[in-house]
Amino acid sequence: MPVLGIESSCDETGVAVYDATRGLLSHRLYSQVEMHARFGGVVPELASRDHIRKILPLIEAALDDAGVTGADLDGVAYTAGPGLIGALLVGGTVATGLAMAWGAPVIPVHHMEAHLLAPLLEDDAPDFPFVALLVSGGHSLLVDVAAPGQYEIIGESLDDAAGEAFDKTAKLLGLGYPGGPALAALAEQSDAETDRYNFPRPMLKKPGLNFSFSGLKTAVMLQVRELEAAGTLNESAKADIANSFETAVVETLVKKSQRALEQTGRNTLVIAGGVGANKRLRASLQQSLQAKGCQVFYPRPEFCTDNGAMVAHAGALRLAQARSPAAGVEARARWALSELAPIA
Ligand code: KG4
Ligand code: ZN
Repeated sequence: MPVLGIESSCDETGVAVYDATRGLLSHRLYSQVEMHARFGGVVPELASRDHIRKILPLIEAALDDAGVTGADLDGVAYTAGPGLIGALLVGGTVATGLAMAWGAPVIPVHHMEAHLLAPLLEDDAPDFPFVALLVSGGHSLLVDVAAPGQYEIIGESLDDAAGEAFDKTAKLLGLGYPGGPALAALAEQSDAETDRYNFPRPMLKKPGLNFSFSGLKTAVMLQVRELEAAGTLNESAKADIANSFETAVVETLVKKSQRALEQTGRNTLVIAGGVGANKRLRASLQQSLQAKGCQVFYPRPEFCTDNGAMVAHAGALRLAQARSPAAGVEARARWALSELAPIA
């Protein structure tokens, strides 16, 4: 039962074919990061136009790779939100038009649900129930997942998302966009054990599972200004700042994840979303949670950041809720995960 999945919520065009019995049959990705890099962030209108240019050839290639044609598909899944509205409309319109031509139903997919379920794409997949740490450019969430489609948000960021904090801090240090991978690479130049600047660990002293990253960003900014004024903001100081920033974020995410597991009584943690590709976060969660008898699961790094495989997979799981393309295109800039219906 192959399902075509289309992701176009931000700056990656992702297309994949997933089959409930045979698994992932193909996946293709085109990243626009180079185009947006010179603007220091995603330019929504340029993103929409580039999705239009790339989406059809990617769909053709993904179908070819999978050895299926449009007529073989049981459904066409597309990211319906949350995301940039113009970018979402490109994927949604193309998916709906093709589904109409192929006589297939469509499945509008929630982008964060797709991220959250991405670890199930791996051979070593988690069993339900679990707690998910969803950390991307737009969201930082702790979600109690009782069963597929049953999501209770138990913690969230009160201001910046974790990925956003990485991106903004990277910008302060003069690194390119997207900042997360660049900042992580710079931090590697510093001695991981030496937390030279010891930035605040946001919200750790407060009870509860919410995050806040804007104070940390301000602390980094003040430090950068101080070093600039003293004329000592050299490459080595920048690497130490990157290291101390990453240490503070990772420690916060690890402690809050631990707290979430204790509070819910679950013993499985799933990490997903772009920041889930961060090597130190993965290693640190693995180490500290395993020591407490908990298991940690995450998708391969390329399925942490935006991709079509997670959309095809989530679409296949929600095939029972597929509907006629004649119902129109669904695109929602904002869409709460808790609004989703359970998966039958
Ligand atoms: O999930 P994603 O691809 O897109 C959204 O749905 O937002 O996440 C992108 C975010 C960006 O903020 C990016 O800087 C961050 O994930 N990111 C990382 C790493 N790779 C991507 N942050 C830290 N370390 C990484 N290795
Ligand atoms: Zn994403």
